Amino acid sequence: MIIDHSSYPARRMRRNRSQPWLRRMVAETHLSIDDLIWPIFIEEGSGTSEIKTLPGVVRYGIERLADAVAPHLKWGIPAVALFPFTPENKKTASCEEAWNPDNLVCRATRALKKSFPNIGIICDVALDPYNSSGHDGLVKDNRVLNDETVDALVKQALTQAQAGCDILAPSDMMDGRIGRLRQALDHKGFIDTALMAYAAKYASAFYGPFREAVGSAGALAFDKKTYQMDSANTDEALREVALDLDEGADMVMVKPSLLYLDIIHRVKKKFRAPTFAYMVSGEYAMIALADKAGALNGDAALWEAHLAIKRAGADGILTYAAPRIAERISKG
Ligand code: PBG
Repeated sequence: MIIDHSSYPARRMRRNRSQPWLRRMVAETHLSIDDLIWPIFIEEGSGTSEIKTLPGVVRYGIERLADAVAPHLKWGIPAVALFPFTPENKKTASCEEAWNPDNLVCRATRALKKSFPNIGIICDVALDPYNSSGHDGLVKDNRVLNDETVDALVKQALTQAQAGCDILAPSDMMDGRIGRLRQALDHKGFIDTALMAYAAKYASAFYGPFREAVGSAGALAFDKKTYQMDSANTDEALREVALDLDEGADMVMVKPSLLYLDIIHRVKKKFRAPTFAYMVSGEYAMIALADKAGALNGDAALWEAHLAIKRAGADGILTYAAPRIAERISKG
């Protein structure tokens, strides 16, 4: 009798799933604390304030920032990304608060560097937190200007580099900004300040809670579709990434993440460059709010979602759940 070893009943796929330790042994994808970047919202003052649409996420007052975030950093997250809630009276059409060396982001960078010298500081480069129009670029006659915005971004980036930022992350989607930023940084001697390009950033409905968190939601009179990408496109994302890498990006990002796993996969496969994904506020909120409503188990759902992003090819994830996941990894 000829026994077929390649199919049932000899071949039983469930065998490798039969024990927790065995499932660990054959797991193809792993989540590690090193994969996590934690976005932090900062505001004036010394308290913390809730963000209604982002359960479990708060804004930290600058005056007690280091103490307040310390318990969340003790798990060993490698880097944090800073986002300011700028007071309304500091928002203008020319966005000059963006290059004020004493703005919230610069003060936070200095405070965190002092208390946590071994944690990387990532600063967003874009004008929206400082812009009375809520847009990422300078607005004239209801149009977002490209080249004038890039000039402003250069000023913002140099100010952040001067404050001690390690990685500048342009999230503005203006054309040509990576090359201009690299040139300006090198010219001023910031040769080790890295650029993480939000290379493929889509015009997404999933940024809603973030805009509440930084207070830019109310201002937007028109959408961001003339600069952020159309969700229908994938080849265009590859062209954006190619340009940013050519212009000097050290790493690239795809954003959002869960709804764009195909983009993460294609970008990583084609360029083999450090590729990050941002689990944006709306993606996090979907899970956190469903958890709160008792519709699913938040810890399990977050784990599965982050694993999916890694499986697609991301080298790291910007995620509001970074401390929660890091704690889970630490505790085994
Ligand atoms: C703005 C910026 C946005 C996010 C990061 N940087 C919002 C936007 O483009 O409107 C979104 C992050 C999130 O939703 O968590 N330059």
